Amino acid sequence: MLITFEGIDGAGKSTQVMKLKRYLQERGREVLALREPGGTPVAEEIRELLLESRNDITPVGELLLFAASRAELVQQVIRPALENGNDVILDRFYDSTTAYQGYGRGLDLDMLAEINRIASCSLVPDVTFYLDLTPEDALMRKFSEKSLPLAFESEELDRMENSGLDFYRRVREGYHKIGGENPNRIIIIDALLSPSEIHRKIISSIDALCTKTA
Ligand code: TYD
Repeated sequence: MLITFEGIDGAGKSTQVMKLKRYLQERGREVLALREPGGTPVAEEIRELLLESRNDITPVGELLLFAASRAELVQQVIRPALENGNDVILDRFYDSTTAYQGYGRGLDLDMLAEINRIASCSLVPDVTFYLDLTPEDALMRKFSEKSLPLAFESEELDRMENSGLDFYRRVREGYHKIGGENPNRIIIIDALLSPSEIHRKIISSIDALCTKTA
């Protein structure tokens, strides 16, 4: 099974990835949890290029770097793991590209769809959990213990996170559109619920999916 998590930065995906990994392992499944961009030596180097705040990268260059990182991870790690019957949980996949580079940066969505298909080797997740959070709430979370900057612009943020509040508003709207177009695959969950409530929703969907496919 390929399970992906999506959401704007700070939505709590990594906590849920870890909880779900543990849940599936307790049920005797072999689980690989990965995050994009990264996951192979070359993909990790691409990740550094993409997130280093001093790097000036064009939107198309950014798109192709995310795609290159994904192509490496899919071919070298994800596809072999799925072929071995393992479950793969992925913190971000091609919906991130549609939301961030498509809706956020404004790149052509048809062109993106083709690049996403090539980079992911046509792999489609069995289920995607989208943790929905406003950019304002995401900022509050990130800076809860510190003074709160009023925009996604700060020296403490990486290159993507420094794209500004309007960018994140477009990304969130993009996720809602993607969710609306893929109602059978994408499950939208309110990221303001407690981590254990979110986890309960996730495992009830996973259990239903396992029963359906068993
Ligand atoms: P990361 O530190 O992994 O952030 P998060 O914890 O929010 O997942 O950084 C990944 C950043 O890259 C994040 O800002 C989202 C962005 N991104 C894209 O813009 N396009 C993509 O295709 C992917 C996979 C990520």
